[in-house]
Amino acid sequence: MSPPPVRLLVCVGPRCDAEGKGRTLLASVETCFAQTFPMELAAARLSIATRDCLRLCTRDPVVRFEPSGDALSNPSLDELLRLTRAALAEQDLALSR
Ligand code: FES
Repeated sequence: MSPPPVRLLVCVGPRCDAEGKGRTLLASVETCFAQTFPMELAAARLSIATRDCLRLCTRDPVVRFEPSGDALSNPSLDELLRLTRAALAEQDLALSR
């Protein structure tokens, strides 16, 4: 059985996007990830989706990773890149077993 894809759920719900921050983060993530992970995105090993509320509301945009369930409030792109690389490495490991 193949390991589950890595998904980033970017919340654009009413709290996260109150000042447009959720959609701003989403646009930054999409641009950055398209440049950094083009093959993983094309192979559907990695995807980015939006949610209307992750029930983790703070005053800042929230991103949750699947399958790990890790959630971050107002993450930097560097944090998201680091966690995504780690998740893809785990996926590689599972694929090699
Ligand atoms: S509106 Fe984003 S977690 Fe609730």
